[in-house]
Amino acid sequence: MKGKKIVIGVTGGIAAYKAAELVRLLVKAGAHVRVAMTLNATRFVSPLTFETLSGSKVIWSMFDREGTSVDHITWGQDDVDLIIIAPATGNIIAKMCHGIGDDFLSTMIMAATAPVLICPSMNSQMYINPAVQGNIRLLRERGVLVMEPGKGELACHTEGPGRLPEPEDIVEYASMVISEHDLSGRSILVTAGPTLEPIDPVRYITNRSTGKMGYALARAAKKRGASVTLVSGPVGLKSPLGVEECQVKTAEEMMKTVMEKSSSCDIIIKAAAVSDYRPSEVAPDKIKKGSDTLTLELVRNPDILAELGRRKKEHPCILVGFAAETKDLLANAREKLKSKNLDMIVLNDVSRSDAGFETDTNIVRMIFSDGRVEDSLLMTKDEVADLILDRVKTIWEANFDSGS
Ligand code: CTP
Repeated sequence: MKGKKIVIGVTGGIAAYKAAELVRLLVKAGAHVRVAMTLNATRFVSPLTFETLSGSKVIWSMFDREGTSVDHITWGQDDVDLIIIAPATGNIIAKMCHGIGDDFLSTMIMAATAPVLICPSMNSQMYINPAVQGNIRLLRERGVLVMEPGKGELACHTEGPGRLPEPEDIVEYASMVISEHDLSGRSILVTAGPTLEPIDPVRYITNRSTGKMGYALARAAKKRGASVTLVSGPVGLKSPLGVEECQVKTAEEMMKTVMEKSSSCDIIIKAAAVSDYRPSEVAPDKIKKGSDTLTLELVRNPDILAELGRRKKEHPCILVGFAAETKDLLANAREKLKSKNLDMIVLNDVSRSDAGFETDTNIVRMIFSDGRVEDSLLMTKDEVADLILDRVKTIWEANFDSGS
């Protein structure tokens, strides 16, 4: 979102208050945001709120305003990357459909050349009304992007479709629309999170992985146009939009799912922290405390990545592993790269407090099969994900895209 120019159109629905959070998140992500409101929207939220959050003048009246007389033309053109109408009431949707421009926002949309994303939000009876549905269909046919409303409790105390999607989801969707789709046509499988190996019905063995790096990779790959499958151990993270998500618990379940899903994939990135061992037996009942010591017998789990490396001849693909290390970092990572037949390994020093597990930032060392080593800066996991995908793309092009 850094440097992107986004116009937010706010119309008069109760969810207008959520548009304030949307503006805040976009500005936080580095976008330049301008806001246009309908007069009715100003009854729900003051223009001052949006002016303060966006740092720009808000326009809500065609004539009684500051600015130039052609703002309604230039706002949706110039170098604007995206116009987002959130919330989009049934009224603005109908006006867009039928070419009505009776205020600043509707006139600006009529003149717009930038892509337009609408986020319909209204009472569910209004939303399912055939006129509204027909208008939405028509707008889709004309190339307007439409984000499905969420379902749930609405402000009018009814349940059903019509909720404005959460602002974070709108940002994620917008970033998918705006980003360069340089991974389009590629199918990517990402694994994430820990595995969980049961001991008895109430206990298990796991590790500190939160899944953040794997989820960032899945989100970034989707944003860049890839078709993405995410196989994840138990984590408390929100599913990335538009990604096929498969939830697993144990290493054996992860193995089965990865093997099922991977044969059609071009690129496999194994960011999951897989338990190397599991209890040899799972006690059917809770183990009661007895003597002072308790010995658990553990058996080796399958090494999923090594198995994928072995199958590379039958299923050629780009294979990327992660190495979580605390000592002899480079030597251990190189050994994994070679023994698992990888194209690249991403080395995490998990003894650092600002990288690896349970952090929002990461600093990695990328080691390639030709021996090259590249260090990243300390970045957010989203930024690290984009860097890894940049390198993966180069490897893909060198191996499979020699004609392009
Ligand atoms: N991995 C895997 N299956 C396993 C263990 C690891 O697919 N049973 C994958 C991880 O997803 C990661 C890479 O192998 O991409 C390296 O994992 P890591 O835990 O760093 O190393 P291990 O191979 O398990 O070796 P060790 O624990 O001895 O360091």
